[in-house]
Amino acid sequence: MPGPLSLSNRALALQPSLTLAIGARAKALQKQGIDVCSLSAGEPDFGTPDFIVEATIKALTDGITRYGPAAGDPDLRDAIAQKLSFENNIPTKFEQVLVTNGGKQAIYNLFQVLLNPGDEVIIPAPYWLSYPEIVRLAGGKPVPVPSPASDGFGLDLELIEQSITPATKVLVLNSPGNPTGRVLSLSELEGLATLVRKHPNLMVMSDEIYEYLLDQGQSHHSFAAVAPDLKHRCFVVNGFAKGWAMTGWRLGYLSGDSMVIKAAAALQSQSTSNVCSFAQRGALAALQGSRDCVREMAASYNTRREELCVGLQQIEGITLVPPRGAFYAFPRLPDAVSDSLAFCERALEEEGLAIVPGGAFGDDRCVRLSCAVSRETIAEGLSRFNRLLART
Ligand SMILES: Cc1ncc(COP(=O)(O)O)c(C=O)c1O
Repeated sequence: MPGPLSLSNRALALQPSLTLAIGARAKALQKQGIDVCSLSAGEPDFGTPDFIVEATIKALTDGITRYGPAAGDPDLRDAIAQKLSFENNIPTKFEQVLVTNGGKQAIYNLFQVLLNPGDEVIIPAPYWLSYPEIVRLAGGKPVPVPSPASDGFGLDLELIEQSITPATKVLVLNSPGNPTGRVLSLSELEGLATLVRKHPNLMVMSDEIYEYLLDQGQSHHSFAAVAPDLKHRCFVVNGFAKGWAMTGWRLGYLSGDSMVIKAAAALQSQSTSNVCSFAQRGALAALQGSRDCVREMAASYNTRREELCVGLQQIEGITLVPPRGAFYAFPRLPDAVSDSLAFCERALEEEGLAIVPGGAFGDDRCVRLSCAVSRETIAEGLSRFNRLLART
């Protein structure tokens, strides 16, 4: 007989976010006075641009402190619809937008309203570590499809197609990608569109949260814009966290078919209600403002990403597929290392280096390093990484 405090099967099966856990462990060690060099950050190291903060302070002093519509502030939903229509070339109406508590809740809500128990979701690996957990929380079955570093993390369309079964409901896309920094090209997206056209019941979730963080010469293409005929079964997930340095604000959005958005809004109305009302005014200011601040931050990551990559490429035994976007590098460890978690534990214990094991992202041969830290931290992190590998 289970005791009065037994947890649900759902809670028991849940894996807490490893990236958040590693960041917290690194901070705890730092507090104990241990010299920790952390390249584990999954967030910008900039403050939120002033004009966004000022608009939010004004909203607070104007008394925007009450409940609002669960689906989001109408002005913000409208501005997001405009942004998607004119920046991303996805004609979008107000009622096709849901403002969520970060991109994470957009994904959570989408899978909650789309999936029935046993429905399968294809997730190209390496993937952002929350996708499989969020799928499982909705009763679905994550189906990772590998795209190894040895193949440049390129999507294997044949393998994806072979993984489609009658139970497959959604294909997940993430470009620019976390953790690989992979940016899907127009031709790759066109190839994917051809595949999706052959499977009329397949839906696509396109996570574009790193859309502005692109290496020079790269461009972002939204899947729904590349394949407008498939728009009715495409869902866009995006947010303000990465582009505008607003991780703590918890502001994201989901866009797609209005019937699905309505269901996701109903779910939100019975779970979290509206996203913080005055924070939404900050997001509105972000969208209405110039993108210069976003471009400046992106340029700074580009310089630092390059330094990280150059350093990694000089380390013996490391294979690096150069990331083309986001703010991570995902190098493959030497063949002698087969357990990325054990390797990262050693990195923290022996070198005070916090990095994230690739196993959490579906590739145990790699580790994730962030460049959203100072250039000194990158240099110090590289030398600790090098020292550890020399002993491995
Ligand atoms: C690929 C990807 N999607 C979504 C998110 C969620 O972002 P948010 O902070 O807006 O919930 C993250 C955050 O790390 C991410 O890396």
